[in-house]
Amino acid sequence: MSGPPAVLEVRSVAKTYDPKRRAGHEPSWALRGVNLSVNEGDTLAIVGESGSGKSTLARIVTALERPTEGSVLYRGETVSGRRERDLRDFRRRVQIVFQDPMSSLDPRMKVHDILAEPLRSLGLVDNEREQVRTLLASVELPDSAAARYPHEFSGGQRQRIAIARALGPSPELLVADEPVSALDVSVRAQILNLLSGLVADLGFTLLFVSHDMAVVRHLCRSVMVLYQGEVVEQGPTDAVFKDPRAEYTRSLLDAAPRIRHRRERGDASS
Ligand SMILES: Nc1ncnc2c1ncn2[C@@H]1O[C@H](COP(=O)(O)OP(=O)(O)OP(=O)(O)O)[C@@H](O)[C@H]1O
Ligand SMILES: [Mg+2]
Repeated sequence: MSGPPAVLEVRSVAKTYDPKRRAGHEPSWALRGVNLSVNEGDTLAIVGESGSGKSTLARIVTALERPTEGSVLYRGETVSGRRERDLRDFRRRVQIVFQDPMSSLDPRMKVHDILAEPLRSLGLVDNEREQVRTLLASVELPDSAAARYPHEFSGGQRQRIAIARALGPSPELLVADEPVSALDVSVRAQILNLLSGLVADLGFTLLFVSHDMAVVRHLCRSVMVLYQGEVVEQGPTDAVFKDPRAEYTRSLLDAAPRIRHRRERGDASS
């Protein structure tokens, strides 16, 4: 054994929301037998169709939900099942961005407070105005945004605000659950470029949830494919695109026309 433990490790995680579980019925599993290891600086995509368990996994690795079975370790320490008061340090190190920036931002709060709130609650305020200004600049929003409310912004701008809020505590791991799926196609590329620039500049580890293989190729070095709650494929993005092992991965790739085109060209030249 050598080197530091993985940033994030998921061991044999299963999750059911089925209330009949205790009555001895076979429950329906949102996740089953999921294993996952993410190292420092990795950019890992979790891909699958609607209902495959992506968001469930995102909530479990961020300790917003508990696994029914199995465990989640952060830098070698178990976090699943910990009480909230024992998660303080974890809450600073691991941040999440949700799909819909309208419901994830409190409409009654000004952007200044939306960005400052996590810093306050985690005791990270130094010069609040300056910190908010820096966060806004990091997502390419002007200082004047601080005095406004979420509804005064477009969807893409609101997602920038949500990203800035998540970056406030300088997380080591950012989990993004379909951060561009609710946005107009025209602004998706801007937000994805922003995210990839932030990964390059700030060096955080990224777990990126998506149902869109085209997006994944752009942003993530490795990919894990979920199908009905189980991992059906895992590997470097290039290898998975070039030579997908699972039938289901092939069908996902075939659902993305532009990628199929590239794949066919790749296949022809090899
Ligand atoms: N809070 C909940 N209560 C009951 N069932 C749930 C809950 N959350 C998720 N599920 C079920 O678990 C399964 C996985 O759902 P999940 O939301 O994780 O999928 P997803 O891959 O994120 O889908 P989408 O692409 O639509 O966001 C689904 O069958 C869903 O109905
Ligand atoms: Mg989801």
